[in-house]
Formats: sequence, structure tokens, C-alpha cells
Amino acid sequence: ASVLLGALLSAALTACADKAHAPAAAVPRAAPAAPGATSAGDPIVPGGGNGGYDVQHYDLDLRITPRGRPSLAGTTTITATATQALSRFDLDLTGLDVSKVTVGGAPATYTRAPGKLVVTPPKPISKGRFTVGVTYSGTPVAVTDRALGKYGWIPTDDGIFVGDEPDGAHTWFPGNDHPQDKATFGFRVTVPSGLTAVANGELTGTTRSGKSATYTWQARDPMATYLATVDVGRFKTRTGRTPGGVPVFVAVDREADPTGLDSLYDDTVKVTDAWAKLFGPYPFSSTGAVVQDAPVQFALETQTRPEYVPGMAAIPTVVAHELSHQWFGDSVTVTRWSDIWLNEGFATYAEWMWGERDGSGQTVQQQFDGRYSQRQSTDLWNVPPADPGRAGLFGRSVYDRGAMTLHALRKKVGDQRFFAILRAWTTEHRHGNATTAQFIALAQRVSGMDLRRLFQVWLYDRGRPVNW
Ligand code: ARG
Ligand code: ZN
Repeated sequence: ASVLLGALLSAALTACADKAHAPAAAVPRAAPAAPGATSAGDPIVPGGGNGGYDVQHYDLDLRITPRGRPSLAGTTTITATATQALSRFDLDLTGLDVSKVTVGGAPATYTRAPGKLVVTPPKPISKGRFTVGVTYSGTPVAVTDRALGKYGWIPTDDGIFVGDEPDGAHTWFPGNDHPQDKATFGFRVTVPSGLTAVANGELTGTTRSGKSATYTWQARDPMATYLATVDVGRFKTRTGRTPGGVPVFVAVDREADPTGLDSLYDDTVKVTDAWAKLFGPYPFSSTGAVVQDAPVQFALETQTRPEYVPGMAAIPTVVAHELSHQWFGDSVTVTRWSDIWLNEGFATYAEWMWGERDGSGQTVQQQFDGRYSQRQSTDLWNVPPADPGRAGLFGRSVYDRGAMTLHALRKKVGDQRFFAILRAWTTEHRHGNATTAQFIALAQRVSGMDLRRLFQVWLYDRGRPVNW
């Protein structure tokens, strides 16, 4: 009975707190301030992300000194919306020395916890907009993960390469390091003369003073933290506009790949416009690429400016893959990492389509058939693409079986409905977050068909799918 009474009481209190039900003259009583959640609760990145606020904008003002072990020093200023009254909140941050934290311009107290900077403002933050500034310095340490390899802040011969997926961003700037919390970004990066800093979005200023140069970049569309990058090196660059009207910025490391610039520029232009025709309008204010000879095993779809190592930049289907992510992953972003097939399955499918239209590869059907005939392929059939776990995040099932799922869907609903589904997906979730359940619901709505078994056997069941 006391449980029931408690429930009734709290329902009554909630009703009173609800403005619509309160008498007009009553002064609304704010909920007491409490600490924000200390994690986004995503098991693939344990402890990653935070609650109690929603970041609107990051402003990174960093001096980067790439010689030896590349270090940084500067201030990241975050504009956020408190979604509750906050007595305290966490930012993700690993390593680095913090020398000052301000909230609303006033000094705040702070402590460090594993992967976190815990901030206590001088007085509680009420719901709504606030700013936090973090001044820090040090040498970021790349993440080395048994399953995911090395990622994050990666030194090169003359600079740095930054590729953070899934959770390397908080090794070089403080923030809410989970894809659920997208925000716009500004970068003001000072580097020694002779080096260039390339980031996301558009270059809005270059100033030189004595021994250094400062590059300002603005990424005006919402972006997940893992897609933010700063690449420092000696670059050969080319700018322009695609025939479809999208501004282009391509930077290629001089030492690593001086001859690849024009062909990468051409591939980037061709793919950007082709995917815009197929997937819907290009979602961002510019496209491009950056190539660095970095010791990493991946290319990355860093927003507006995918990153490649020279060998990968030379492969058109890799360019097709990374640029398709601008729609699938960057504009429509996962809500939790277990939905990663919404990125990699779609980008792999795009890669297959580019191979088919290029005439250089197999047809999409051959790509599907070749994999389907591998009866015993354990990675493919034992890992469900929509629940791959951290170890399987960038594994064959997510990429290949994810793409096969889309091909199975296409064969079932027909080309016209299939591409209508893809366009509805990029339109309805543009610049947002989405889940696998939302994709399934959308596919059923747009096609008017019952697709539950198809998605069940392809995305969730163990074993090679039959009869869908
Ligand atoms: N998203 C990248 C791609 O386009 C892969 C990133 C891999 N990340 C990593 N830490 N290994 O395929
Ligand atoms: Zn990918």
C-alpha cells in the first residue's frame, strides 16, 4: 500500500510541477540541482558520454607542436544546454593537464576521475544555456585496443593524423564523447610556420605571425565528436566546386603522395555528386579529403573531410565508401554503437554499387553471392550485425552481412522502393540520430510490406539466413 501511496503522491507532485496544470499565479518551483549522469550508458564504450546537458557548440583554440611527441595547449569552450538543474557534471577527458575550468566565465572547481573531468560550478547551473571553458595542455596518447587497433591522436613524420572512431575524441578535447550528442564545431589551430592545419568544415581564416600560422575552420552542421579531426602536416591542396555545387577542399601530404592529388580530387567530386543523386542532397556545406602517411589500418569518414592513408586514397571504391558515410553515419548518426551496421553496412553497399557502375569490380549481386556461398564463414554467420559487441564493431559481419541485408531488402521490395527507403531515411533523420528499429519501421512504412522476418534473420539471428 505504501508503494501505491508513494506512486500516487509522486504522480500528484509531478502534476503540480507541470506548468500546464499549475495555477497561473503560482511561482514555478525549480527541481533541486543534481549531478548529471556520469555515462551515456552505452556498453560498447563503457563510461563514455555524460548526461544532464546537451552540447550545442565546441570551440577548440589549440596550439599544436608536432615535433617529437606532438603536444597541444589551449582552451576548449563548450556551449551547452543543461537539461536539468546541475550541481555538478562530467566531461569526457583522458590524460592531459588541466590548468583552469570556468563556467559562465567564472572559475569552477574540478577533479579528475578515470576518463573524466568532473566540474563543480560555483553555483548550480539552471536549466538552459551555459558555457564551460577548459584550459589544458599535454601530449595526447592514442588508444590501443585489442579488437579495434590503434586510433585517436596519431603522430606522423611531420605532424599528426586524428581519427577517433569510436571513442578517441576525449584524448585530445574535453566534451560529451558519445555520438548521441552532436554539436557544431569551430577550430582555431596554431602550428609552426610551414605546416598546415586541416579540420572539418570550411577554412575561414589564415593568419601568420613570426614563427607560426593560425588556421580557422568552421563546421556549421551538427557533428558527432568521433568525426571531428585536425590534421597537421605539409600539404599540397586543391579547392573548387563540384558540378552539383558542393565546395571541395582536398589536402594531400607532400612527402607521402604528391602525385595523387588530382585523381583524388576528381574521384571526390564524382562520388559526391553521384551519391547526392542517389541518396538525396549532400548534407554538408563542403566535401573533400585529407591524405596522410599515418600508421593506421583504416580510412575514416571524418565529416566533410574523410581521411585516408595514401594506399586507400588511390582506391575509388574506398572514396565511395567514405563519402557515402557523409549521409550514412555523419548526417544520420547512430544512437548507440551497436547500431553501427547503419554506418558500415550502408557504406559497404555503396562501395559495391560504385564497383558495379565503375565497371572495375564485380556486380552487387556477385558481391552478395560470393559471400552467401561461404557457408562456414564464422565471422559472417555467427556475429549478428545489429549486435556485434565491441570486438565486432568493425568486423566482417557489420560490413559485409550489413551490406547483404540491404541487398536482401532491395531484392524483396524492388529497386524503386529500395531507393525510396534510402532517401526517406536520409531526409527524415538528416543531421540527427537514429536506430535500427527506426530503419525497420521506415522500410516497412515506405514499402508497405511486412519485413520483420527479413530483418530478424539478417540482423539478429545467428547462422546463415535462409528463407526470408
Ligand atoms: N569507419 C571507418 C570505415 O570507414 C572504420 C573505423 C575503424 N576504427 C578503428 N578504430 N579501427 O570503415
Ligand atoms: Zn566505413
